[in-house]
Amino acid sequence: MLPQEFIRAKRDRRPLPAEAIADFVAGVMDGRVTEGQIAAFAMAVFLNGMSRDEAVGLTVAMRDSGTVLDWSDLGPTVVDKHSTGGVGDNVSLPLAPIIAACGGYVPMISGRGLGHTGGTLDKFEAIPGYDVKPDDETFRRVVKEIGCAIIGQTGSLAPADKTIYGIRDVTATVESVPLITASILSKKLAAGLKGLVLDVKVGSGAFMPNADAARELATSLVEVANGAGMPTIALMTDMDHPLASAAGNAVEVRSAVNLLKDDGSEPRLREITLALAAEMLAIVGLADSAQEGLKKAEEALTSGAALERFGRMVSALGGPANFVDRMDDHLPSAPIIRDLTLSEGSDYRGQLGFDTRELGLAVIELGGGRTRPQDNIDHAVGLTDLVPRDWDGSTPLCRIHARDEATFELAAKRVRAAVRRREGDVPAAIVERISA
Ligand code: URA
Repeated sequence: MLPQEFIRAKRDRRPLPAEAIADFVAGVMDGRVTEGQIAAFAMAVFLNGMSRDEAVGLTVAMRDSGTVLDWSDLGPTVVDKHSTGGVGDNVSLPLAPIIAACGGYVPMISGRGLGHTGGTLDKFEAIPGYDVKPDDETFRRVVKEIGCAIIGQTGSLAPADKTIYGIRDVTATVESVPLITASILSKKLAAGLKGLVLDVKVGSGAFMPNADAARELATSLVEVANGAGMPTIALMTDMDHPLASAAGNAVEVRSAVNLLKDDGSEPRLREITLALAAEMLAIVGLADSAQEGLKKAEEALTSGAALERFGRMVSALGGPANFVDRMDDHLPSAPIIRDLTLSEGSDYRGQLGFDTRELGLAVIELGGGRTRPQDNIDHAVGLTDLVPRDWDGSTPLCRIHARDEATFELAAKRVRAAVRRREGDVPAAIVERISA
């Protein structure tokens, strides 16, 4: 089908056959389809949506636009998690080694942060020497020997997504459920996984703040992933409050390692990490049920086995061999570290909430996040000791780690302005489970 006929069919709400979708995506890659045609197609999908079959067709075609990793030498337990992103969401750091300690393999290909949400890769770059772009051979060897490796995107996985996303970004067509679905899943399918668990965040710090919109995205992701042959479930989880007690880069690495030491400092992060681990173990048959998976994951955490895997992964990818024992010697710290209290006279005991997105923006103001892909970031700055979800009023709001007084003041103003009075009880960490 000619590109203009293909776009016309979507414009007029006629079904798109899988072969026509595959041909259009092939045309994106070989130059037969112009940028203008990609933009027109994206807008037609934005306005008219896609059927599940069409979304599966687009996802598979985008997967096949580049390399598809083959882990068949590792058997059926190659599994990953994808999060729609949030503030203080460092789940990937403890999760991958927990799965590895339970006998699974996690080749985790992560991204950088953009906007108010942090990126896993930026957190790892706070660790001196850690190579987020190892060669293929090193990546495969670390996954095989240690069970997990967390690295950056390579241009060879689903390259059509990069082209299409770049055009969506400047044509107001990012917020389309089928296009988001195909974008996320094409990269996960290209990673050669045997199972996937999605963490779809809901609340003021989430990409999709509204529960109905988050549910629609979660359902689409689960149905399309299963339709494309990858067993997948989703947990919708609370992002109306930062997940960990820290937001930033080095500070979130510390929080994740503290969780791996099971020191009790991160109860909500622990709950969500273990729930995701339980589902991952069950989806690839390392546990008979999520309940059994939860026991195994908890054992990996309490025994120190997951901490040991994390340490080995860091060292195998170029980080310090004694990282988990001496992380304070290795992680950068900011020159100004100071508590921030609530404004005089305000009483939010038992009712404190946040506009969590604003906390993510405070991290950007400190220099710890970026607003443009090319921005450099400061790994040392961020927020720590963020109040827990059920704050009793006895501690400061948070501790700010800043490079200088000017950015400290900007962040302090933003954090204070982000405080809200919470209505009702503290919501559950796991909001809903969505399966095919
Ligand atoms: N994240 C992605 O990877 N793709 C999208 O389209 C939106 C968010």
